[in-house]
Amino acid sequence: MLRVRLLEPIIPVSVTHSNLKESALLVRHITLLEALEVSHGVLDLACGSGRNGRYLLGRGLPVVFADIDGEKLASLTAVDVPDPAMMRLWEVDFEQKTNNPLAGKTFDAILIFNYLHRALIDRIKQAVRPGGLVFYETFTEQQRRFGRPSNPNFLLKPGELKSWFETWQIIHCEELERACPPSHVASLVARKP
Ligand SMILES: C[S@@+](CC[C@H](N)C(=O)[O-])C[C@H]1O[C@@H](n2cnc3c(N)ncnc32)[C@H](O)[C@@H]1O
Repeated sequence: MLRVRLLEPIIPVSVTHSNLKESALLVRHITLLEALEVSHGVLDLACGSGRNGRYLLGRGLPVVFADIDGEKLASLTAVDVPDPAMMRLWEVDFEQKTNNPLAGKTFDAILIFNYLHRALIDRIKQAVRPGGLVFYETFTEQQRRFGRPSNPNFLLKPGELKSWFETWQIIHCEELERACPPSHVASLVARKP
């Protein structure tokens, strides 16, 4: 009888933003974050798997991981950190109508990747301390050519991301097509005056 041994199971893996490694934008500009005098920590807003925040933890930066999905946050408890104070988990709904969960909170930097809720933009800007940074990258309207998201609420208009930070120092801003996964995004790094 012919015996066939499967050495490796074939598991279809889809490339999504959540199972990719840390964002190239963050890696490219990591020295900006490392040069910050950190007293409040970095907020990884709508962190999902926390790929970006985990990268910062590895560079010695304290991170608050925030998401509405408690299960995703729970998976982050497995992350090994030398000092538990470096990492905080925050289960939160950023789309509450009456309550602003960022009110009274201050961060040295806020990361927003693959998430858009326009009503939150001013709240995000207020929550960054003077001299602090925003890293923002998400889909543009051109993303429709590649599939989801296609809801206009989740897609940036041309120039929209930059327009929100006009009064800040814009360090990086571009709108481009990405090969993997095929997508169209706008990205920005800006410093609060
Ligand atoms: C597309 S994922 C992006 C995850 C991560 N930023 C990344 O790029 O890998 C969007 C994340 O937003 C979170 N999210 C959606 N609505 C939210 C809300 N109202 N408040 C907080 N997080 C929310 C989801 O749970 C999900 O983890």
